[in-house]
Amino acid sequence: MAKAIYSTHLGFFDILPDESPKWRALENIIHEEAAKFNFEEIRTPILEQTELIKRGVGQLTDIVTKEIFAFTKGDSNYVLRPELTAPVVRAYVQHHLGQRGGSQKLYYIGPMFRAERPQKGRQRQFHQFGVEIIGSDNPIADVECIAFMIRIYQRIGIQNFDLKLNSVGDPESRDRYKEVLKDYLKPNLSKLSELSQNRFEKNPMRILDSKEPEDQEFIKNAPVIGDHLNDESTEHFTRVCELLDKLNISYTLDPLLVRGMDYYTRTAFELTSSDLGSQDALAGGGRYDLLVEEIGGQPTPAVGFAAGMERLLIACEELEIKLGSEKSVDIYLVTLGEKAQTWGIETLSKFREMGISATMDYMGRSMKAQMKDANRENARYALIVGENELETGLLTLRNMEESEELQLTIDQVLGKFRS
Ligand code: HAM
Repeated sequence: MAKAIYSTHLGFFDILPDESPKWRALENIIHEEAAKFNFEEIRTPILEQTELIKRGVGQLTDIVTKEIFAFTKGDSNYVLRPELTAPVVRAYVQHHLGQRGGSQKLYYIGPMFRAERPQKGRQRQFHQFGVEIIGSDNPIADVECIAFMIRIYQRIGIQNFDLKLNSVGDPESRDRYKEVLKDYLKPNLSKLSELSQNRFEKNPMRILDSKEPEDQEFIKNAPVIGDHLNDESTEHFTRVCELLDKLNISYTLDPLLVRGMDYYTRTAFELTSSDLGSQDALAGGGRYDLLVEEIGGQPTPAVGFAAGMERLLIACEELEIKLGSEKSVDIYLVTLGEKAQTWGIETLSKFREMGISATMDYMGRSMKAQMKDANRENARYALIVGENELETGLLTLRNMEESEELQLTIDQVLGKFRS
């Protein structure tokens, strides 16, 4: 026998039949809530050109420097998408979605890939749902994004989260702040991690997102962007806070929140949960008013968020929230002998046409084994058919929950399910 090949230890996971109902339930909730918000679904390819992700997410981000799965085929360079904001913006530009009029309110569900060190809540293939609203710079769009994000957790019953909020400013405010930040960091530059030293000239704000231990002391005491916002960014942020207050969405201001991608401008937010371990970020997002232009479109403001679906499901487990119903089937045909099997496969389609779920044994097993299987499948009824039953026309219908049996003709059985 050949040696088995497994991939779990690499941070890639199978979603097994026992788990898929909760995934389906979660996806249904997302689709239903998205419809209520009038968001439209977008699906983009798993592969994107490396250049798009480098330009979109940022050359000096952890994602681009350490985490992308990249490969070359012919003379093209591809990555497995690590996130969907840049790809959705690419699709928006490529297909001139702006011409449909108004702001484009898009949502998505799907797998992403990052070559991070796997641990609980951190996989190399994980799933996100998210929203991108492209075309509006109004704080209403920021708040609708946040409201949708929170609505999903509330509907599921996850209440224990903290919304962290910041403004990372517009280009003018950021340029001003970058100089202040550099002046502050410069005297201790040699004490910072190598990664942060590399980021110092080109992208000093990225240092604030560093996870390196030697940087933490300097990050903690760094000047904050909030003190260097211009009037426009301050006004925008104040209005976002005002609208969140109106909706009774509570938040904590976190002046050091910069997020892991370079595209953010003005609003930035993160949702964390104490029900998760060290990977406590449930979701994150913000405004990215320069990205559409960066990717080749007209200057167009936008805002969005994405949420980790595995992390949401981990929180459900911690809180003992059950998503999705237990598997079950309406009727299990227990067939004994070939004639009964032929009758069985014909009868299955009659039930299914009536909208009744129906299954039968495929292995020619004994009656006892088939009844055991019907139990395992959580069948509501078993219909027992052997050669005798076919001759007399009287079948045994067993109510599995109540352990009651009736002798009925097939027409009576079908009639019972029809009513
Ligand atoms: P992000 O913060 O990188 O943002 O990811 C969003 C969420 O995806 C995280 O909060 C986390 O729940 C989940 N996540 C990220 N990496 C992993 C991983 N390795 N394993 C499991 N879950 C993970 C974005 O991706 C932005 N595109 C969000 C956005 C949309 N900003 C504007 N629009």
